[in-house]
Amino acid sequence: MKNTVMTYKQAKEKGEKLTMLTAYDYSTAKLIDEAGINSILVGDSLGNVILGYEDTLSVTMEDMIHHCAAVSRGAKNALVVCDMPFMSYQTNVYDAVVNAGRLMKEGRAQAVKLEGGREIIEQVRAIVNCGIPVCGHLGLTPQSINAFGGFKVQAKTEAAAKKLIEDAKLLEEAGAFAVVLECVPSKIAEIVTKELSIPTIGIGAGNVCDGQVLVYQDMLGMFSDFTPKFVKRFADIGEIMKEAFANYDKEVKAGTFPETKHEYTIDDDVLAKLY
Ligand code: KIV
Repeated sequence: MKNTVMTYKQAKEKGEKLTMLTAYDYSTAKLIDEAGINSILVGDSLGNVILGYEDTLSVTMEDMIHHCAAVSRGAKNALVVCDMPFMSYQTNVYDAVVNAGRLMKEGRAQAVKLEGGREIIEQVRAIVNCGIPVCGHLGLTPQSINAFGGFKVQAKTEAAAKKLIEDAKLLEEAGAFAVVLECVPSKIAEIVTKELSIPTIGIGAGNVCDGQVLVYQDMLGMFSDFTPKFVKRFADIGEIMKEAFANYDKEVKAGTFPETKHEYTIDDDVLAKLY
């Protein structure tokens, strides 16, 4: 069944957990979709895991549209949520609305995700007013990595925790359908989850959240530049891939691949005319 923002609403009401994974291409989106995951996030983490940048800041609108369109073609039932890249919405309400619209029209996203709370609340309200579902993102928001001074757990002090809880409420009031909580103490995620009537989606925010999200390369052991504490490796596909690549290299160099069964034939009488 097709997942929509209504699925999110109903899951929260019924106390059912939601699943979200990132994807950046058609084939992976199709596999995730077929596995029954509720939603696919075309995260700007593609800057790290696909494009090899150190952070997400260089990711462009064109990058997001290109990858989101591919994911959308592969996702039949999962709700496709696309990240708005750095500086595509922070500047002003007009930019935010135009760029959210592009992710929907050109990327065929079904919702957009923005990082931040009170600072971008007018942008969230304006996008929602255009009929575009918005997912919030609080806690460790990687687009602000330079302001944080690194990848650090957020909302650890009384003031920071209060701000995060208030920001979550502001996002709900502005019409967000869900809020991602990244790298925050589970007790703070628990307060937010209890106080909101929209679902919280945790990543490094404990088990109390209404749903969970992971970067798929992290959970499959396909990205080793850094592995945050909150990642669980559900399979070691990275090792399986490396082994397969090495076997291919060995067989080609030994002349054992391709075999006859991998070849195409031609009629002997046609061949005879070529000599
Ligand atoms: O870009 C991304 O993949 C994200 C998740 C880590 C939540 O924002």
